[in-house]
Amino acid sequence: MTVYEKMNPGHIDGLVKVEEDCFASGYARNTFEKELENKLAYYVVALVDGEVAGYAGLWNMCGSADIMNVGVLKSFRRHGIAEGMLGRLEEYCIAQGIFEINLEVRVGNVPARQLYAKMGYDEIAVRKGYYDGKEDGIVMKKLLTENRGV
Ligand SMILES: CC(C)(COP(=O)(O)OP(=O)(O)OC[C@H]1O[C@@H](n2cnc3c(N)ncnc32)[C@H](O)[C@@H]1OP(=O)(O)O)[C@@H](O)C(=O)NCCC(=O)NCCS
Repeated sequence: MTVYEKMNPGHIDGLVKVEEDCFASGYARNTFEKELENKLAYYVVALVDGEVAGYAGLWNMCGSADIMNVGVLKSFRRHGIAEGMLGRLEEYCIAQGIFEINLEVRVGNVPARQLYAKMGYDEIAVRKGYYDGKEDGIVMKKLLTENRGV
């Protein structure tokens, strides 16, 4: 069974494993420790039978949120875990009065682009060479109509 929890110090060993599995140079342990102290940060962790299977995190920037990262262990992919985590982040944003969620994704990252498209994010711009000058970044945005405030 998958449960979703707000990140806490007990998750960090598992989160480091997710990073190693997902990214060539991912977050180090102390990045997660700093994010736990960061008042702007909100991270959701997915646990499958008690094991950390993935996480997704954002920064709350005065009414607008920026997704910092999303990752799921390879062995748990294609089971709806990223979708579940993004849904929890969205619930948090709605409760906080946030009116839009933004992110960047590598142009070549088809799984992530498909995920965000399925979750209602629109591709709104291209940042040329955003990733080390080598790969373009696609800027994606989701408006939370519940919180438009106009
Ligand atoms: C992208 C990632 C987070 C998706 O996690 P996941 O738990 O497997 O995703 P889900 O099972 O929730 O999939 C939801 C939707 O995303 C899309 N998707 C996910 N993986 C996909 C793939 N390999 N190919 C195409 N579409 C994919 C599909 O639309 C899918 O819906 P469907 O299963 O009904 O077709 C995961 O592949 C991952 O951790 N990748 C490495 C890290 C990364 O690139 N993070 C994003 C940084 S911006």
